[in-house]
Amino acid sequence: MSKQQRFTITAALPYTNGPVHIGHLAGVYVPADIYARYLRLKGKDVAFICGSDEHGVPITIKAKKEGISPQELVDRYHTMIGDSFEEFGISFDNYSRTSAPIHHETASAFFTQLYHDGKFVEKVTEQLYDAQADQFLADRFVVGTCPKCGNPESYGDQCEKCGTSHNATDLINPKSAITGNQPQLKETKHWFLPLDEYSEWLNQWIVEDHATDWKSNVVGQVKSWITDGLHPRAVTRDLDWGIPVPVKGAEGKVLYVWFDAPIGYISATKEWAARENKNWEDYWKDEDTSLVHFIGKDNIVFHCIIFPAMLKAHGDFILPENVPANEFLNLEDDKISTSRNWAVWLHEYLQDFPGQQDVLRYVLTANAPETKDNNFTWKDFQARNNNELVANLGNFVNRVVVLTNKYYGGVVPQPTGLEPRDKELLEKIKTYPGNIGGSLERYRFRESLAELMHLSSLGNRYIAEEGLEPWKLVKTDPEKVQNIMYVCLQLTAALAVLSEPFLPHTSKKLRHILGLSDSVSWETVESEKALLAAGHQVQKSQLLFSKIEDEQIQAQLDKLATTKANNTTQNPKLMPQKDETQYDDFMKMDLRVGEILTAEKMPKTDKLMVMTVDTGIDKRTIVSGIAQHYKAEDLVGRKVTVLVNLAPRKLRGVESQGMILLAEDPEGKLVFVNPDDEILNGATIA
Ligand code: MF3
Ligand code: ZN
Repeated sequence: MSKQQRFTITAALPYTNGPVHIGHLAGVYVPADIYARYLRLKGKDVAFICGSDEHGVPITIKAKKEGISPQELVDRYHTMIGDSFEEFGISFDNYSRTSAPIHHETASAFFTQLYHDGKFVEKVTEQLYDAQADQFLADRFVVGTCPKCGNPESYGDQCEKCGTSHNATDLINPKSAITGNQPQLKETKHWFLPLDEYSEWLNQWIVEDHATDWKSNVVGQVKSWITDGLHPRAVTRDLDWGIPVPVKGAEGKVLYVWFDAPIGYISATKEWAARENKNWEDYWKDEDTSLVHFIGKDNIVFHCIIFPAMLKAHGDFILPENVPANEFLNLEDDKISTSRNWAVWLHEYLQDFPGQQDVLRYVLTANAPETKDNNFTWKDFQARNNNELVANLGNFVNRVVVLTNKYYGGVVPQPTGLEPRDKELLEKIKTYPGNIGGSLERYRFRESLAELMHLSSLGNRYIAEEGLEPWKLVKTDPEKVQNIMYVCLQLTAALAVLSEPFLPHTSKKLRHILGLSDSVSWETVESEKALLAAGHQVQKSQLLFSKIEDEQIQAQLDKLATTKANNTTQNPKLMPQKDETQYDDFMKMDLRVGEILTAEKMPKTDKLMVMTVDTGIDKRTIVSGIAQHYKAEDLVGRKVTVLVNLAPRKLRGVESQGMILLAEDPEGKLVFVNPDDEILNGATIA
């Protein structure tokens, strides 16, 4: 088989901690699907692969929040995501999951081979550790300042702002995402992939050899990371959710999610091949197979540095021919966010706009974030549907089918001697498959869709040309109308074929209306053959698209407004503001920085802690109700804020000489109000 005949197309495995939204669709799944459908139409051998990414920290965090097990969580979202992809028309050959046994086996074997081949560096290093949570902190368990761009909310493994991937210990001012505590360092053993050793090779392969045929955002990012210097990356973690590290002495450790997930592409291919009686190795080991990864820009480092280094280290696998990463899609000028519920969710869209999958596919492609971040607005969605799909494509097709039924009982008329104008259009139609396909092969999906719509505009212009409109001409020159209608029917059939990658539901419907035989293919449109022969019977017309009304759009906008309001209004459980107080009253309070010297729980009480506090002016006893929130031994040495001139009062016989300030949330959680930096005991606060 020659190059460019077999394709393995992967779409980033979605994290299974929430549903899929329009950002995912526009960035990854819609373009990947268009590409896969196009190649199938061209007769290529395609494996279009995806599945649920079910390991990793975000899943354990979310499961904990919902009080269910990680497995229960991923089961729920795996089904939901898979079903909505299918209904939307994403034509995966296999949608698998990383909790599947075949994936555990494949990922384990991959690790084992690299381990035996000495491709890892085994190191005991100090890693961030949260003593209170009794857990090592990596990836999304830790937040801190990005060493590259200064983003104060970078995760332990990757900064979402600049895309850089780093080790958790590289973060400046790390904080545990579980308790908010400053982590300690604790020794632990891990296996590292020495990315630095692949630096030169990666530079040659991507920055040099693919300088012009890969997208510039992709090459640019890779170049910048290589220039900054690649470092060994731990590919194992101290976690209990994931694929156990298949090595003696690694009990309690799992593979890093970004080590196992991309191997998911391979396991999903194996699963599919077994089902379809194919050889999976053809799709991963044959140099003539083209491997293409569709991803969003936050995944570039993993698909262009880490996974290729893994594949290279393994040695048996092909490398991607391209990694067409997209930028991000915003929603109504605001960043899409799962946690803030700022998104258009696929499963909700499918409910709110039944049968209108292709409208969203169209809008997300026409407005795809190919070279820069883009914005989705409901008004634009409505306008594109009403002005482009309804008024251009739908209108043309409907006119042609309605008139064919009206004039000829639905039978394609015999041309009566085509004129140059007719022949010219027929010739022109034949150039469209090449133009549309050419753009797709260069991953220019917007341009390609614009070409398709251009063909439909040509039809509209042709049929409505002054003096040639069939509905006027039919009375005076019916023979000429036969020519016009014949040409229009060929163009309609071409639209039915060429729209399939972009608008599969519409294409299917249109093929049905036209009674187009399955043998009419992409190639037929390019050929000399008529797509619809004279004498062929077509069906009655059905509307391909319908107008979207203002009320529907308003309902979506209202939904978003509610989300925004929910995000900004205060927690209703919070205490309302107290009555106004005067400056002088406030200044009567003497607040000082103090330090706890000793602490002891008061016997026979649940809550009370007796402490000696250095207030700078003296050392005194203070009793506070914090025993359920802090252990005595954790208090000694802590800086606190003390109201030192509060009248003393006795608590269970012990005189408390002041009050330590505490913050309390509606759930009753108590924490000290303490100065962030070192400051002298006795410093005043106002
Ligand atoms: N789950 C990741 C994300 O949503 C993508 C994983 S892609 C794979 O960003 F290569 F790891 F599979
Ligand atoms: Zn950064």
